[in-house]
Amino acid sequence: MKAQLRHMLRDDDVNHQEQKQILQLGMRFREDRFYRRPLDGPQAVAVLFDKPSTRTRSSFSIGVAELGGYPLVIDKSGSQLGRGEPIADTTCVLTRMASAIVWRTFGQDRIEEMARHSSVPVINALTDQFHPCQVLADFLTIAQWRGGVDALKGMTISYVGDGANNMANSYLLAGATAGMDVRIAGPNGFLPDERIVRDARRIAADNGGDITVTTDPRAAVSGSDCVFTDTWVSMGEESEYAIRSKPFWDYQVNDGLMGLAKPDALFQHCLPAYRGKEVTSSVIDGPRSVVWDEAENRLHAQKALMTWLVGCQRGDESLLA
Ligand code: CP
Ligand code: NVA
Repeated sequence: MKAQLRHMLRDDDVNHQEQKQILQLGMRFREDRFYRRPLDGPQAVAVLFDKPSTRTRSSFSIGVAELGGYPLVIDKSGSQLGRGEPIADTTCVLTRMASAIVWRTFGQDRIEEMARHSSVPVINALTDQFHPCQVLADFLTIAQWRGGVDALKGMTISYVGDGANNMANSYLLAGATAGMDVRIAGPNGFLPDERIVRDARRIAADNGGDITVTTDPRAAVSGSDCVFTDTWVSMGEESEYAIRSKPFWDYQVNDGLMGLAKPDALFQHCLPAYRGKEVTSSVIDGPRSVVWDEAENRLHAQKALMTWLVGCQRGDESLLA
């Protein structure tokens, strides 16, 4: 196998087979937390945050340590990057010391710039546009509950709420890559960017999937295998709280809406959740909700992703399975 530097900046940075390989590796890590230790040394992974985090911070910190490595966590307030040091300069420094860089930031252009200057894998830990690590964990959760990774292809997944946010975009691209029927429902003005929908349709066509974007939450959820939602106000949008509260009420995931999905449909939410807003307590704390498995799977999915990226970079095929 040829050594190749790969990044995970958006969900379609991997193809169908590669996504499957990463999820299968995730299933292995679910069974055995210490299945592979590619960062033995310990080798450092820099984990940078320009926005708050609980799950991403803990799962990357613990995940890197469980892979035998050392997580170097840097917050915006304690970094020169946060004071305006050029992304290229920070990247050139970190790339000399760390085996990978993980970054939660604002615009997608920022992480793409980092990747251009990096000689180690760069992982998107959430931008305004995408959250690929979360969706890997979400798909791992479906695999966990539905008998393995092969079950994903052909499934119907529905996301209801802010259709223009990072989660909606990531479900479009990752679901298309998996060959799923992906349905996104949001109010007018909060639907995905046409360019992302176009990319998703092209990828779905290659993998036997399908893409629907609609303003009708009931049509989106009907007969679905898994229903997702997310906050109506993403990080960085707090000043829009008042204008964002009104248009979303028809898109609340409640018992009535869940009742339209398959009887055994799962409910997932990336968290943090706002009970009584995008989801009722009866759903998120109810029998179909798998949100705690989903949160735990961040750990396994990201360990799989880091192992896979390091394997590609070293040209070490044994790390890919
Ligand atoms: N879901 C998620 O990314 O959570 P955090 O913001 O807590 O990392
Ligand atoms: N859409 C949310 C996801 C949080 C994990 C946000 O960006 O704030």
